[in-house]
Amino acid sequence: MIAIESMSEENRQIDEISEAFEQEFGRFADLNLDGIGVDEAEALLREIGELKIRHSGKKSKIAEAKKLIGKVAPEERGAFGQLVQSAENNINSKISEAEAQLKEFISKAKTESERLDVTIPGRRPRTGHLHPITIVRQKIEDIFVSMGYAIEDDREIENDYYNFDALNIPEGHPARESQDTFYTTDGFALRSQTSTVQIRAMERRGAPIRILAPGRVFRRDTPDMTHTPMFHQLEGLCVDKDITMAHLKGTVTEWLQRLFGADTRTRFRPSYFPFTEPSAEFDFSCFVCHGSGKVDDARCRPCKGSGWIELGGSGMVHPNVLRACNIDPTTYSGFAFGFGLERMAALMYSIDDIRNMYDNDVRFLEQFK
Ligand code: DAH
Repeated sequence: MIAIESMSEENRQIDEISEAFEQEFGRFADLNLDGIGVDEAEALLREIGELKIRHSGKKSKIAEAKKLIGKVAPEERGAFGQLVQSAENNINSKISEAEAQLKEFISKAKTESERLDVTIPGRRPRTGHLHPITIVRQKIEDIFVSMGYAIEDDREIENDYYNFDALNIPEGHPARESQDTFYTTDGFALRSQTSTVQIRAMERRGAPIRILAPGRVFRRDTPDMTHTPMFHQLEGLCVDKDITMAHLKGTVTEWLQRLFGADTRTRFRPSYFPFTEPSAEFDFSCFVCHGSGKVDDARCRPCKGSGWIELGGSGMVHPNVLRACNIDPTTYSGFAFGFGLERMAALMYSIDDIRNMYDNDVRFLEQFK
């Protein structure tokens, strides 16, 4: 009894230490984690970590108290030691219990939020695709490449010489009128036809030559269902020794048959172009009604019941054009042709307004995937 009496001051200190701990630990005693988030739980875990340092760390009151054990009288040392030890055990076990509870909650909540449902359909990336004009152009390019033609790409800004003069269209020629285009203030203009590339290519390569030149052309046109101020043409040119109109007809017939089927027929009507002599416009038998003009007893749409579709212009390269490119027309001859790609694409895909092709409306464009 006496011993305990004399020990009362130390014992009281231990009680105070325990009480101070219980006070602060209070809110973790019956931890209710229902409905809290991971962030909140992590904040609590940090708090308890700080509490741990304060109440069981090296500089805590209980650590100080442990140092007293050796200083009390030997006969009381055992009892005091036990008291300190049980106080410390109580602090440590309560803290680790709360820590463990929080850690488990956090790990479960994270697993739950990161859980993958592998059966949910994936999000498909929207893939791009080619524009209808590009599709048609590439199909025709492939055919010509297989016939030994080179694809020529050239400038869209030209001067009068390449757009007109070298093509045998001198100043004042009425053909200039129908191909009015957009001009710059310093003598340049947007090309009104891909025939310019005939000149550029012959200047560069000389003869013999076989090229296909696709590209944009420009004209002063008011937009409507069949006109846009910018559109695409495909130009063909073949110059060699002994080239005749038969080669022109054979080549045009061949690529149209490869594109629309072996039963496709072609027809050449006399026409006039300044850069060819003789000149002809060419038509091909309708790929829908195969020339009958009728589909299920109704008038065929693409050919308007005629059985023929008008496509482009052609002819034997005019000697003046060859001469402008330093090619001797007594040694060489050639044919050329040109046509519009928009009209061709419109026919192939039943597009009734070519302006749709430049509206960039994905609902329209996605149909060509
Ligand atoms: N360049 C002509 C036009 O835009 C089309 C044309 C006709 C091209 C006859 C040719 C050709 O190569 O021989 O109307």
